Amino acid sequence: MPKRPTTVFVCQECGSQSPKWLGRCGDCGAWNSFVEERAQPETTPGAAAGPHRYALAGAAGARLYADIELEQHPRLSTGIDEFDRVLGGGVVPGSLVLLGGEPGIGKSTLLLQAAANMARTIGPVLYSSGEESEHQIKSRGERLAVGKAPLYLLAETCLERILEEIARVKPALVIVDSVQTVFSLKFQSAPGSIGQVREAATQLLFTAKGQNIPTFLVGHVTKDGSLAGPKALEHVVDTVLYFEGERHHSHRVVRAVKNRFGAVSELGVFEMTSTGLRPVPNPSKMFLAERPSNAPGSAVLCSVEGSRPILVEVQALVSSSTYGTARRTANGIDQQRLSLLLAVLEKRAGLNLIGDDVFVNIAGGMTVDEPASDLGVLAAIASSVRNRVIPQTTAMFGEVGLAGEVRGITQANLRVREAAQMGFRRCIMPGANIDPADRGVAGECELLGVRTIGEALDAALSP
Ligand code: TYD
Ligand code: MG
Repeated sequence: MPKRPTTVFVCQECGSQSPKWLGRCGDCGAWNSFVEERAQPETTPGAAAGPHRYALAGAAGARLYADIELEQHPRLSTGIDEFDRVLGGGVVPGSLVLLGGEPGIGKSTLLLQAAANMARTIGPVLYSSGEESEHQIKSRGERLAVGKAPLYLLAETCLERILEEIARVKPALVIVDSVQTVFSLKFQSAPGSIGQVREAATQLLFTAKGQNIPTFLVGHVTKDGSLAGPKALEHVVDTVLYFEGERHHSHRVVRAVKNRFGAVSELGVFEMTSTGLRPVPNPSKMFLAERPSNAPGSAVLCSVEGSRPILVEVQALVSSSTYGTARRTANGIDQQRLSLLLAVLEKRAGLNLIGDDVFVNIAGGMTVDEPASDLGVLAAIASSVRNRVIPQTTAMFGEVGLAGEVRGITQANLRVREAAQMGFRRCIMPGANIDPADRGVAGECELLGVRTIGEALDAALSP
């Protein structure tokens, strides 16, 4: 007797399954996230060896660690320096890279630019889009000066068709623009559902690893900024990159949050121009370009993103609250961290902020989440409260503890060097990080070690 097709309900947030519909997922707590999907056919042990098997290496069995020869991954350059940097030095053959970001931020633009460059250098590239027609992609390509390159465009959403085209074109690089639009004929659920996305990613992974074709997937993000659909996707791929930035600013940041072949939190900075994304080799200069002179509430902090130090301006505005409850608004730094820093300021530096609205903003739409940025944020707030200007040529960094102490942080000499190169004359930093060996990198820049926030504020607010 033929078996009746069974259906399961799958949480679109975490992938947990249930035979019945549930209003709230018992595993991840998401509301209204269950969607009916057809159950995956039971795989018998023999059948599992079908398409779901790929050879990562020639060896069939386990091998002794000592017998495995070390292979250097030759990196393929995308022709865009900043993009190579986030990837850890270029694209690794056979790797699967997920690029996430909000709509309209520039994912398709960046990948089309990389595709055109790589088609010229490494061979044919297949750009498969489920969102735009070939004509739309071509009209964008004209702005990006794609020119003559073996770049194949495919407007297709069916996974099986995409795999067929990969087999036919034999590309050196595959780009699938939005994994959420791809669907497999094997599943009946809608494109973008967890089953479909997982199947698409897994099949493309087999192709990438099995045939050694590096593959880029574009992923949509939800309102709260996480990748739409399954978290499972992040586990499947080798590298996860996020596109950040604000629509109202021209600069964009690509950040690595997972990378099996390089450092995480590495970051590439771009500027969106009328002819596509342009790498920004000196981000500090860009972030400090519009810094006001002699304005209270502005401080420069030095943050390290991956292997790169970046100077950014933090602005604070403290004004007496017109309503009963004071507002605390943080833009570019963590709201919780701001609350903590305000409590430390009140308790340890004697500033009275009850009944004041506090607004903190990292200029240029940048985000910093390093504890080393604490000191800059504190100084900007104190500068606004006391209405005293922090000298234009002072930069600072350091973590602040609950007792009001300034704690040492990592990579101090990188930060000092960047500040010195950008023409800063004074660097307020944790006393614990003062190292006579850094004198060389500091050059003209005076290094001022502080141990408490009292000392730091005295130093920052004195002319
Ligand atoms: P796009 O790459 O389509 O975004 P995504 O794929 O992430 O949804 O980028 C679209 C935006 O970029 C759009 O608002 C127009 C802008 N843009 C430029 O400013 N200059 C350009 O050369 C291109 C191609 C796009
Ligand atoms: Mg797009």
